[in-house]
Amino acid sequence: MAKVDVVADVLEHYADSIPQHVGIIMDGNGRWAQQKGMPRVYGHKKGVDSVRAAVKFARQVGIKSLTLFAFSSENWKRPEEEVSGLMDLFMLVLTKEIKNLHKNNVKLKIVGDITAFSAGIQKKVASAHELTGNNTGLTLNVAANYGGRWDIVEAAKSLADKVKRGELESADIDEALFDSHTQFAEQPDLDLLIRTGGETRISNFLLWQVAYAELHFTPLYWPAFNALAFAQAVEAFAGTERRFGLTGEQVKR
Ligand code: IPE
Ligand code: IPE
Ligand code: MG
Repeated sequence: MAKVDVVADVLEHYADSIPQHVGIIMDGNGRWAQQKGMPRVYGHKKGVDSVRAAVKFARQVGIKSLTLFAFSSENWKRPEEEVSGLMDLFMLVLTKEIKNLHKNNVKLKIVGDITAFSAGIQKKVASAHELTGNNTGLTLNVAANYGGRWDIVEAAKSLADKVKRGELESADIDEALFDSHTQFAEQPDLDLLIRTGGETRISNFLLWQVAYAELHFTPLYWPAFNALAFAQAVEAFAGTERRFGLTGEQVKR
């Protein structure tokens, strides 16, 4: 099936059940490359094509927020050569892709503790945020040096600071307020979480946000993930009855 058809097919059949916020754990780059007798970094480079395809698909079917796990707070522990390869790639992508994202009205948000990155990357991130900050199309969150526990701890800290300054009573903290202090404030709830590469774990991704998300695991390595694979995840999502604690009968009513 040609790629255009994949989008048209999704819009024809599932227009009413497009997930608003999709998170993707882009896993399997290293194994994909090793299977081809290539170094792991080759897999990361090829993974950028899949990122482009996923962003395009998300825009075309009308997903509001797409959150991609690019680098976890634990990934620093990888061999130095791989970490620096990933950093170079991050820098290159931030430089090369930003104009095209902007042209397509995409709002780019890097989520994670970016203070750990080089000054060059931090500058690129700041200018990317500035350039695309007012865009109204897809919000593309790229999680870099991100950890779900970090996100929760940061939210707790900023609430604690407000209590300390007397701006807030601790009794006023509820789930909605807590949510508005996470990295994804003002974005739709996470509807669908996809993980490529065959593992069935969360690896410290969106821990707070995953509460009622549908989980979709695919054995495809990230560089092999394309619009068709994304469409299949959306199709599975559309076919699920989300009950949020209710009975099936209640949901139907
Ligand atoms: C995911 O692919 C990308 C990052 C973690 C940066 P991996 O590099 O984890 O690939 P595998 O899981 O080892 O195959
Ligand atoms: C999760 O993949 C992080 C990213 C995709 C960026 P990992 O490959 O780091 O996860 P584990 O180590 O298999 O749990
Ligand atoms: Mg992995």
